Amino acid sequence: TTTAVLDGEDAAVTILPTRRDHPFDPPSELGLLRDEGPVTRLAFPDGARGWLLTRHEDVRAVLADGRFSADRIGASSPVRRPEFRAEDRPGVLVTMDPPEHTRLRRMLTPYFTTRRMQALAPRVERIATAHLDALRASGPPADLVPTYTLPIPSLVICELLGVPYADRARFHAWAAAALSLTTSDDEVRAARDALTTYMRELVAAKRREPDDALLGALVTGDNDLTDAELCGIGRLLLVAGHETTANQLALGALTLITRPDQLAVFRERRDAADRAVEELLRYLTIIQFGTTRVAREDVVLHGRRVRRGETVVLSLPAANRDPGHFDRPDELDVTRPPSQHVAFGHGIHQCLGQQLARVEMRIALTVLFDGLRELSLAVPADRIPMRHDMAIYGVHRLPVSWKE
Ligand code: HEM
Repeated sequence: TTTAVLDGEDAAVTILPTRRDHPFDPPSELGLLRDEGPVTRLAFPDGARGWLLTRHEDVRAVLADGRFSADRIGASSPVRRPEFRAEDRPGVLVTMDPPEHTRLRRMLTPYFTTRRMQALAPRVERIATAHLDALRASGPPADLVPTYTLPIPSLVICELLGVPYADRARFHAWAAAALSLTTSDDEVRAARDALTTYMRELVAAKRREPDDALLGALVTGDNDLTDAELCGIGRLLLVAGHETTANQLALGALTLITRPDQLAVFRERRDAADRAVEELLRYLTIIQFGTTRVAREDVVLHGRRVRRGETVVLSLPAANRDPGHFDRPDELDVTRPPSQHVAFGHGIHQCLGQQLARVEMRIALTVLFDGLRELSLAVPADRIPMRHDMAIYGVHRLPVSWKE
């Protein structure tokens, strides 16, 4: 017998569920879709039709499948965003396929090895401790976002890239506008353009006066990078380097504050901090709408024909809560053994900065919970403004108090 391959026209259509019932859980509708079947027909806000995958095994398989392209310029997005233009593309390796992607990734990988990131640990610890001391000096209450969770990764990535930290107010604002789902298309474009102009000027400055940090090293290195590529690399690393970790850190802190049982384990078993960080990455999966790929040819997935050019959304939050892969997926268990979560993606685009993010998370959470006694929320938990409205999930503010 032959199994019929069904085209998209035969499938019921859904829009990507985005409404959360609980701040730490992905939309429960995503779980229902995952239970219903492996492949969901998706309607995009631009009117196009595509597909949604929610199972861990399928998400990993497509992310590792060369028949799907990461080039999203002109592709549909599950949440409304102004399109990227071709001139925004050079250097932005997350939207490239081999061999273009391979060329840039090979150049950058040596700067982000586990060994190199571990070597940054003492510096990250000094930065975290300095911010903690400032918090202590000013006394409770305080909002941890502007005082702790945002400045630490921001300063670290600035030092690593050679971006002046004094410029942070500007690039924080541009990144926030560019990642917001509620700012107008014009505002998003203006923020992207401002960041591009800023980075272009910085690259020019590095050409005139190179330094030892990453951008300076790439400018003087034995490579064929154009200024436009250097600018794209700089923008991508600067934004990915601070927004992601800052939100993972703030959301992780909120989670542990509201879960004293898990916090106790985190504190008692200091050797277990690495596991706790992995579990927070899995459980919270801040790339909340997942990542997308475009079919380069017709591909059959579980009896459904994905047509060339159609966009496939890989839901990282759904995959990371898949009971088909994880034992008790909806439970936070900071002692959970390594579990192949997909919070950093999978395949050739798997997060370049993951070892840095891990070092920052481990140190910043340890310094915070060691340094402030009886850390608690300064407002009721349901008054914490969650980032439902941002491409990267987290909290807008985290007001806390502690015993002096
Ligand atoms: C790629 C998540 C921190 C730089 C990715 C991807 C994910 C991700 C899911 C894959 C995207 C895709 O396949 O479409 C995260 C999370 C972080 C984090 C959850 C923090 C907790 C960082 C940091 C940096 C960084 C600190 C920079 C230092 C990048 C880059 C890519 C990437 C450059 C593209 C890699 C490529 O295309 O080869 N990240 N990231 N990320 N991330 Fe991260």
